[in-house]
Parts: sequence; C-alpha cells; structure tokens
Amino acid sequence: MNHIYQSGFGNEFATEAIAGALPVGRNSPQRVAHGLYAEQLSGTAFTAPRHANRRSWLYRIRPAAVHGAFAPFEQAAFHNDFGSGPATPERLRWSPQPLPSVPTDFVDGLFTMAGNGSPAAQTGVGIHLYAANRSMQGRYFYDADGELLIVPQQGRLRLATELGIVEIEPQEVAVIPRGVRFRVELPDGGARGYMCENFGALLKLPDLGPIGSNGLANPRDFLTPVAAHEDREGDFELVAKFQGHLWRAAIGHSPLDVVAWHGNYAPYKYDLRRHNTIGSISYDHPDPSIFLVLHSPSDTPGTSNLDFVIFPPRWLVAEDTFRPPWFHRNVASEFMGLIHGEYDAKAGGFVPGGASLHNCMTGHGPDAATFDKASAADANKPDHIVDTMAFMFETRAAIRPTRQALESPQLQADYWRCWQGLRKQFKIPV
Ligand SMILES: [Fe+2]
Repeated sequence: MNHIYQSGFGNEFATEAIAGALPVGRNSPQRVAHGLYAEQLSGTAFTAPRHANRRSWLYRIRPAAVHGAFAPFEQAAFHNDFGSGPATPERLRWSPQPLPSVPTDFVDGLFTMAGNGSPAAQTGVGIHLYAANRSMQGRYFYDADGELLIVPQQGRLRLATELGIVEIEPQEVAVIPRGVRFRVELPDGGARGYMCENFGALLKLPDLGPIGSNGLANPRDFLTPVAAHEDREGDFELVAKFQGHLWRAAIGHSPLDVVAWHGNYAPYKYDLRRHNTIGSISYDHPDPSIFLVLHSPSDTPGTSNLDFVIFPPRWLVAEDTFRPPWFHRNVASEFMGLIHGEYDAKAGGFVPGGASLHNCMTGHGPDAATFDKASAADANKPDHIVDTMAFMFETRAAIRPTRQALESPQLQADYWRCWQGLRKQFKIPV
C-alpha cells in the first residue's frame, strides 16, 4: 500500500480519511461529523510564541482517555538511568548488537546505551538501540518523556501512528512527537537501529545564516502522513513511558482511531540521502555543524540540547588539506552510529550497526591508518566518498553510558589503541 504524505516542516497540515470528517471554521464544534470526538494534542506550552507553538486537533472514534488504569510494565533494558556515579571519559566503541533469538517486538527490543539530563528536567537525551524480530501485536506505545528520533540501520519499519502511517527504511529517519501513540511493524521480519529520545525543546531545522535560503535539509523533503484510522476492538495494551519508567494499561480498541486531524504537531520522516551537503571548495573543511540535519536548542543561544548530524556521501575537493575529520576535542559530547558503508575517519572497527562515544574534551579523530593514508593522498585530485552514511547525536552535556552498555559484550575493550600507532614525526630542522 502506498501511503501519501504531506510535504513541509512544521506546516499547518489538514487531512481527513473520510470526506467531511474535518470541521470547517472551528476546532471543536458542538457535534463533530460522523460521531467523532474532538481532542487537542499540545506539544508546546499553550502560550509558546506563535512561531514555536505546536499543536494538532484530532477527530477520533474514541477520546485518548478511554483505557484502563496504569500498572508498572517490566522492560528493564529501556530506561533513563544514566547513573549518578563517576562517568568515564574513556573513548568507547561498540560492535553491532545481534538480532534477538526469541520473539521480540520494538518495545521489548529497546536497549538504553547512554544519555544525559532527564525527563523531569525537560533537558537532555536518552540514546537507545533497538533490535527486534516481530511486529508489535495488540500493543501500542507512547513516550511522554520526549520526542523519538528513530534511525533504522537494518530492516524497514512501518510506524502506524495516531496521525497516519510512516514507512521508513535504512537511510531514512522518522520523528514521533512526544505523546503520539504508535505501533511498530517490521515488513522485513528483522530490524535494528538507533533511537534518540529528546527530553528538551522540539527538534527543528537549523537557521542557515550566510548559506542562504536553501541547503542542508530542505523543508519540502520532510514528509508527514495523511490521516489513516483503525476501527478495531480487542484485548490490547497501551504501554506508556513516563518519567523514565514504563507503564501499561488495558485498552479495548486500537488507539490509532483518528479519522481526521489538522495542525502542526505530527510525525514526520526524512530521507538522509536528500541532504544538500555543503563543504569547502577552497581549503580546510568547515566545522561538522555544517552537516546538521535537525537540532533541539537549549536555553543558551547557539548551544544545542541535541544536534542530529550526518556524514553522507560527498565530494572532497579542498586543496592542501587533510581531508578526513581532523583531530579534535570538543566541549560537546558525541555519540555516533554507522547506518551504511564505511566511515572515512576510521580504517576498521566502526561497522554498520555499531556505535561510538567521544565525550566532552576527550581527544579523538582519525586512527593511525587513516592519518597515514590521508597525509600521503594527492590533494590536487578530488575524492568521492560513496557508500557511507554515518550520524551523530551531539549534545552540550556530557553523555553518560549506562551500566548495561559498559557491561555489554559488544563493547570493544581496546578501542583506545587505534590512535597509539600515531608516531612522533617531529624533527628540529638543521
Ligand atoms: Fe568528534
């Protein structure tokens, strides 16, 4: 089935699955057409400035309030316990997680790797992996703690949400707003990837400054689904993530019963291959902020709660320039993943589905093999980097790996050694 999307970022969309379901001229008429209920879903404070205000009006078969009482739900690997003890400054890298060997859906298959801040503080992020092998059956999920940026690495996802259906494949991403209920289906049987839970301000497109009115991720390439409702009844469960913990409630119908909606608070998808990647055509290369896709601003101007950055295929043409990412230490902290192919700053060890963490002020950059190769390359000729798609969740606060991530068999014990072959080259001229 081909699903139709509406194009644009944060637009005021309007969509109805049944003709006449969407009220005209008012949001909550005394009686909604077809016996639907009107309900507002607010993603920002009621009083947020108009340019930042996000809300949608939903016209649905039953209000979201119709479900049973909540009780704790056990899924111990998915949480926001980033630890209160010492956080390591060590450079960390993990091999990919294997797909599960027992039936595991998206919620069961979430594994928290790291994070900072908290849902209570409404700042910071939770960084998770997922690995699943079956669709969610009779189960619906929502996250009250933050919006979800889902980055598939293997296998397609069909995200059936209250506001419509979003289908994504590796090298595409989706954002599910805080509170939106959804079910994850796996068209390919198995699926693996990354998920960033943003506790802070909503992700937005960056300003472009001197770049001008086009470039990086263009608004028209963000796609929001049209309304698609289910009218199903049965013994289902609604799983909620609330203040770092999971809860469940019985629900006798599918909560994906929104027949029509309008507003600017809705899921969206973006194909990373459409990113208009910009770099130097003279010498040096710009800071990696030039690779920004989406960012969540913090309360400090110019400083992000979360930056979502990608390293896509591109031409490198800068002359007399060390072309891979240089050696660096940053005030920001960087959690990276590889979706596809190879990453140009590492000769090995960082493979699709893997992850790395370089925290605030830890020295990192190209490994010794990459340094030697790039130092000897002919910089008068362009390099075409193909077959790659890496990404970074970059945050202003230090990223704290979870205990289970540090105890994971996928943690590579000797990652730090990749820089030890960088030999002394210094010579005093005679
Ligand atoms: Fe870095």
